Amino acid sequence: MSEELATSMRTGLCGRLGLDDVGRRVRLCGWVARRREHGEHLAFVDLRDYSGVVQCVVDRAVEVRGEDVVAVEGIVRRRPEGTANPRLATGEVEIAECRIERLAAAQTPPLSPEDRVEPDEALRMRYRYLDLRRPRLQRNLRLRAQVSSALRSAIERHGFCEVETPLLWAPTPEGAREFAVPSRLHHGSFYVLPQSPQLAKQLLMVAGFDRYYQIARCLRDEDPRADRQYEFTQFDLEASFVSQEDVMAIVGDVVRAAAQAVLGEPPGPIETMTYDEAMSRFGTDKPDLRFGMELVDLGPALTGTGLRALAAPQRRAITVPGGGQTSRSRLDGLVDRARQLGAPGLAWFRVQAGETGPILESPLAGHLSDQERAALLAATGAEPGDLVLAVAGEEWRSVCTVLGALRVDLGGQEPGPRPSRFVWVVDFPMFKGLDETGRPVPAHHPFTMPHPEDLDRLATDPLSVRAQAYDLVLNGWELGSGSVRIHRPDVQRSVFAALGISEAEARGRFGFLLDALAYGAPPHAGFAFGLDRLVAIFCGEENIREVIAFPKTQSGADLMTGAPKPLSDAALAELGLAPPAR
Ligand code: AMO
Repeated sequence: MSEELATSMRTGLCGRLGLDDVGRRVRLCGWVARRREHGEHLAFVDLRDYSGVVQCVVDRAVEVRGEDVVAVEGIVRRRPEGTANPRLATGEVEIAECRIERLAAAQTPPLSPEDRVEPDEALRMRYRYLDLRRPRLQRNLRLRAQVSSALRSAIERHGFCEVETPLLWAPTPEGAREFAVPSRLHHGSFYVLPQSPQLAKQLLMVAGFDRYYQIARCLRDEDPRADRQYEFTQFDLEASFVSQEDVMAIVGDVVRAAAQAVLGEPPGPIETMTYDEAMSRFGTDKPDLRFGMELVDLGPALTGTGLRALAAPQRRAITVPGGGQTSRSRLDGLVDRARQLGAPGLAWFRVQAGETGPILESPLAGHLSDQERAALLAATGAEPGDLVLAVAGEEWRSVCTVLGALRVDLGGQEPGPRPSRFVWVVDFPMFKGLDETGRPVPAHHPFTMPHPEDLDRLATDPLSVRAQAYDLVLNGWELGSGSVRIHRPDVQRSVFAALGISEAEARGRFGFLLDALAYGAPPHAGFAFGLDRLVAIFCGEENIREVIAFPKTQSGADLMTGAPKPLSDAALAELGLAPPAR
């Protein structure tokens, strides 16, 4: 396939040439990857396009420099005996009798477009177009395109119709801060960039689209992190006349199709666990199932213990395999970390081999009875050479959360590849707690349908109400979330009321939704997952920036364009905005 992408300027791609092409006259275009002088008269020029590199033999007098854009015309020939390069896909051939035409000259680039050394971060962001020439980023962005294309085909097989929704929108409460957009004709009023197409897609269900999807740009003004950018992409979908299980099956199918397309094999079946189980076993609603170290309940082992540090109503532990040699200073560090996470303290026990069985080494061990020590070992399954970390407290969720964070800090450090593990987390609580004024704080957006069995407790005991919400988790990252939506205006009003949103405020902010629900809304449910996160995991990247063409830095800046930038006083006046105080 060396004629791939042939045009009037070239006969094909550099990286596709091989022995089959020997004797052919070719014309190739690309960048000068490297130039090496060879004897008195000749030089080798490695020519690069996105498909790879091929070696061209040129007259030494030819003046081309690294990163110049050139067209090379010549004859493909087998490399002389003993000079083939097995590390290069085109390593058995070279282009001889070359004529080179320089199409554009390049200055010396501030960063090398090769992967051998990782360039400085600020340079990468400032000269992103050069950074993107590197094979790693070329590979990542092309894999991203493959994932999008596989997702589109898979979702369309399920009868979903792609619809674009507005970017200039009104505020919707989904938990994140929003970017506001002023405009020339509406001084004092603002559009808001959508955190997600949530309400638009619900309105499409009222409109009878039945099944909608979109690869949607979403914008949230929250601090960028490894798994978060201001601008990101959701694979967003919504369907009518479906249950939670129907949506989970559809999402599972499209994600598996994407994995099959880019990794060659689909992941195994996706298991499901409840929120309570995820918290109890892993201390998080985003469990990383690639390693063990599950939390265990020490309650039964330590009933009535005299050890004050572990006498609270909730006490749980994790076992760190092979952690028995952890130094005192490292353990002190872990205690500090547990305190930062909100625990009153952290009890540790290094398990050592004793003459008559394992012994616990810890300043606290002497406060445990023989029976309690044996019960603690039995409950944790710890063996000599392991480390047991235990946390006690009043509240189940916070004790679990601290241990969950320590589990992630310390776990899964064994070398070697670990296959990805997807898991569905279901039966979330509707509210995650009460705010200072005693109002319940929603765990999801307020369009989420409460569990039908719990509806009557919405006003009386909101914290016990479960939501029909489900998250898809991959390797400890929240990949996406979804829910069955409220399709009855009366239920939507009572959820707004439970959230302390008055009737007048609800009308003012969501009148359009309440109106729409009153005109015949089908039962509907949906889901959205972060495309950037899915692609990053498929690429083995730890930061979604590596799968986004032009990302922002950690502080939200675009070092290439200089955005965000001040506007002139005249431009501000046109938007009805006052210049900042100087
Ligand atoms: P949620 O807010 O959970 O749900 O977002 C869904 C998924 O979008 C991704 N995501 C992000 N990715 C990168 N940067 C960000 N700042 C960012 N914020 C979110 C995550 C997340 O799981 N409308 C609902 C979905 C629904 O109910 O259908 C929503 O937006 O992978």
